[in-house]
Amino acid sequence: MSKEIIAVKNLTKMFKKRRVINNMTFQVNEGDICGFIGPNGAGKTTLIRLLTGLISPSSGSLYLNKIDVTKNREEALKSLGAIVESPIFFEYLTGEKALLNLAMLNDDMNKEERKEKVKEVIKIVGLEGREKDKVKIYSLGMKQRLGIAQALLNNPKIIILDEPANGLDPLGMIELRKLILKLNKEKNITFFISSHILDELQKICNKLIIIKEGSLVWSGNTDELLSKVSETNKLEDIFVKLMTSN
Ligand SMILES: Nc1ncnc2c1ncn2[C@@H]1O[C@H](COP(=O)(O)OP(=O)(O)O)[C@@H](O)[C@H]1O
Ligand SMILES: [Mg+2]
Repeated sequence: MSKEIIAVKNLTKMFKKRRVINNMTFQVNEGDICGFIGPNGAGKTTLIRLLTGLISPSSGSLYLNKIDVTKNREEALKSLGAIVESPIFFEYLTGEKALLNLAMLNDDMNKEERKEKVKEVIKIVGLEGREKDKVKIYSLGMKQRLGIAQALLNNPKIIILDEPANGLDPLGMIELRKLILKLNKEKNITFFISSHILDELQKICNKLIIIKEGSLVWSGNTDELLSKVSETNKLEDIFVKLMTSN
């Protein structure tokens, strides 16, 4: 039995009179790498901000690891490491120091444990050897990986990434994909990753959720979606089809 780890039920978010998320319902199971796809302005960041409890829904509900985010935010967020848009660090700190500061927010660890944990996450994300450099000289790809290292400090079950590939060069993309696959496999971390480019995620996501103008257009297994286009087998073609049909 697959376990539901993210659940969104009849979720609606209004900004003033504008309906930015429209009665959205979907689930993500434990161990999934789920792509959350939609054109710019579709509502991806808004949905992620709802999921991370940064804003409240107008109606409907959200669950992380079966815990209601609206009713029990703190408890629900315990299973989560999230990066909404670009991770923000104090650029004048070294990567290591930035992580050590963030680890201090976790009361469960003493000083030695925090040091160990920071060392461990630096190694996992492949920043070993660069941890004494200031964040401001890191490449975008390195900053993304530092963001993931930050998320890992709390041993999350779920990591949410909002458009992580934005601005990454091809090599940065490959490294990011490898890291996501590794964490999924070795630590059984569920990923929920937004993008406006479908092809980008096709390679690693077993599940896709496609939205348009705040509404769910399609959700299911990547293979299922691919089998729809026997000719080209390119997700981009289906995406265009979904976006242009009503
Ligand atoms: N705080 C806000 N107030 C009003 N409108 C907003 C706010 N945040 C986002 N929006 C609007 O909601 C829509 C979806 O935005 P967003 O979730 O950022 O889309 P995406 O991340 O898919 O590009 C856009 O039309 C945006 O202008
Ligand atoms: Mg966005």
